Amino acid sequence: MPTLTWLTREADIRLAQKAPYRLLESVPELSYGEQQTENMLIQGDNLDALKALLPYYAGRVKCIYIDPPYNTKSAFEHYDDNLEHSQWLSLIYPRLELLREFLSEDGSIWVSIDDNEGHYLKVIMDEIFGRKNFVANALWQKRTSPDARLGLGAAHDHILVYGKSPDMMKMNKLSLTEAQAANYKNPDNDSRGAWVSTDFTAQGWRPNQMYKIIAPSGTKYEPPGGRCWANIESEFHRLNSDGRIWFGKHGKARPRVKSFLSEAQGVSAWTWWPNTEVGHNQESKKEINSLFGTDEAFDTPKPERLIKRIFGIATNPGDLVLDSFLGSGTTCAVAHKMGRKYIGIEMGEHAVTHCVPRLKKVIDGEQGGISKAVNWQGGGGFRFYRLGDAVFDETGKINSSIRFSTLAAHIWFCEAKAPLGRQADSPLLGVHNETAYYLLFNGILGDKRPAGGNVLTSRVLKDLPPFEGPKVIYGETTRLGAERLRFEGITFKQIPYDIKAR
Ligand SMILES: C[S@@+](CC[C@H](N)C(=O)[O-])C[C@H]1O[C@@H](n2cnc3c(N)ncnc32)[C@H](O)[C@@H]1O
Repeated sequence: MPTLTWLTREADIRLAQKAPYRLLESVPELSYGEQQTENMLIQGDNLDALKALLPYYAGRVKCIYIDPPYNTKSAFEHYDDNLEHSQWLSLIYPRLELLREFLSEDGSIWVSIDDNEGHYLKVIMDEIFGRKNFVANALWQKRTSPDARLGLGAAHDHILVYGKSPDMMKMNKLSLTEAQAANYKNPDNDSRGAWVSTDFTAQGWRPNQMYKIIAPSGTKYEPPGGRCWANIESEFHRLNSDGRIWFGKHGKARPRVKSFLSEAQGVSAWTWWPNTEVGHNQESKKEINSLFGTDEAFDTPKPERLIKRIFGIATNPGDLVLDSFLGSGTTCAVAHKMGRKYIGIEMGEHAVTHCVPRLKKVIDGEQGGISKAVNWQGGGGFRFYRLGDAVFDETGKINSSIRFSTLAAHIWFCEAKAPLGRQADSPLLGVHNETAYYLLFNGILGDKRPAGGNVLTSRVLKDLPPFEGPKVIYGETTRLGAERLRFEGITFKQIPYDIKAR
């Protein structure tokens, strides 16, 4: 497959793999609301933050939305959007590689971009996510009128959409807009309420759909030239006796079929997203001004309605969503109001000055943006984190502050290529491919001396939770000889040397 080349490509495609595993440190004083929440707000470079999250969230995220810097050559107040072209590619490539690992099998990634880098981004995303997994390029009409300063100004941004496996992706229909709902009327006082009617014909010629229909007035109808009736005759009679065929006010018009508002399943989404449906740049400016005042406003927010459209199509309540270029926090605010779980990552100081107060307001029941549309009443919470130390130092030694559960999560992820999914509290981490994985570290067997229980001896082996089958045991060292290890079916791995640090 053709790939994009740039000066530092060879080094850049190794960045994700080389990024250190770092700890996430909770900051209680910047967290808010319910303590038990899974919602996370992380301040830090997203390359490191994503790497830190990977052992816990790989394969679990239903929808990723990102709005990276567009490289518009502007210097905004809160971040710089003027990278040399290959530096931009070097920013985006490794981060997309990591993001791919978070998607669930039915998950999707949606990326906002404009014409500065959009076409390069498509080529890179084809490489990383697979050309066959490209779903669509949605066009968001971001302006309401042309920019008078430009000869041919851009009216739209792109939103590139890829599925992990598009066949598994279920896209929800869109609810009807007020204008669409207003088309439903009830001229015959049908007890099922308002309805719209559509022509009862289909294109083509099918022999069992070519019958005669007699209207209540006695007028006889045949399908018009080149068309047949929409259904076979028995189905027509079923619909007619259920009062679902409309022959006009006087019972003599050509047949039409009724669809009731109460039964409407919504409309299928398509790639044209006009600002009347999902907002525009002025709308998001207003939203941000009313949250922070004009002096503190963030320069490039997205409208809440735009993100609601994405989550409405790609997720359901309770699903986990992720944004690693969070800006002013729009994605998390919308996710929170829509009942989705979320992880937001932002490296700038506005993680504290904007995202935290915005989410606090949401939890307190803020009524701007999409609040009224989703009947938001407040509640919930989020936890704030910053990046802490690396799990391993430059020489590969384990950081002394690492807790058992952290190292356990890391080892399990390296071995099973999947998150552990719980707080490890036993030396038996789990069974993968019929092999049991054990970790002896920080006296997990109850002996609190520094090296206590970290050495595999006969006594320690006896105290381990039993498993009939091959075992991999991580520990500082072993007193069991090669013969005994073979006899017990044990592969011993020495900490730190046998742990993959990257
Ligand atoms: C276009 S803004 C996102 C705006 C956002 N969608 C909103 O509605 O407010 C891009 C954001 O990405 C952040 N960013 C850029 N590089 C980053 C990195 N390496 N790690 C984390 N955040 C980064 C910038 O600080 C900026 O806030």
